[in-house]
Amino acid sequence: MQRGLFITLEGLDGSGKTTQIKRLAAWMQKRGLVPVVARQPGGTTTGDRIRELLLDSRSSGLAPMTEMALMFADRAQAIAEVIEPALAEGKIVLCDRFTDSTEAYQGGGRELGSTTVLELHRLICGDLQPDVTLLLLPSLEHSLDRARKRNERTTAQSGTDENRFEQEQEAFYRRVWQKYREIAAREPDRVVLIEGDLAIDEVHEQIVEAVAMSFSEFHKR
Ligand code: TMP
Repeated sequence: MQRGLFITLEGLDGSGKTTQIKRLAAWMQKRGLVPVVARQPGGTTTGDRIRELLLDSRSSGLAPMTEMALMFADRAQAIAEVIEPALAEGKIVLCDRFTDSTEAYQGGGRELGSTTVLELHRLICGDLQPDVTLLLLPSLEHSLDRARKRNERTTAQSGTDENRFEQEQEAFYRRVWQKYREIAAREPDRVVLIEGDLAIDEVHEQIVEAVAMSFSEFHKR
């Protein structure tokens, strides 16, 4: 059985990832493909509990190393329970965030550095690499504005509080944003950078183009 295709979506809070993942999954389904959609943190029973702990603004005083360890604990569970089995069965896995998020947020934002994150990724995740990563990087101002509005709406509607990261200062997000750019420059073969304040349809078209290219590489394997 040929191994499946591992696609990740990355970007700042408010970059439009969630909308784009839904559209990409729908685009695939129209073509008879049934992707396994995952997200991090979360997506497994244990992972959803870790997500709550990580994102609830009442989890105050989490040390950066604790935060990073929890992100990796969630990821190890998702790899074991969802990602690896699906790839082994030849399926397409569409994952909303993966280790690039840890490198950008904990390595960059929390200033723990890339080396520690990449070393942990090697040890805990067996160095599993996505075949293609779609990195959405609108301007920092645009992302922050959208993330705040979305969180106000979600808290009001569902009563769940996932605001812990949104309470960070702009300087934190600037470091995250810069680290993402650094990752894209370091790994141009894997990371497709979609920059600028584009319309939803334009972003979708760029995503579809990149995914179609990775399909053709996949069929050549
Ligand atoms: P989401 O809202 O896109 O699901 O992401 C949840 C938050 O968790 C978001 O603020 C980014 C953060 N995060 C990290 O800080 N490190 C990580 O490794 C992951 C996966 C997410």
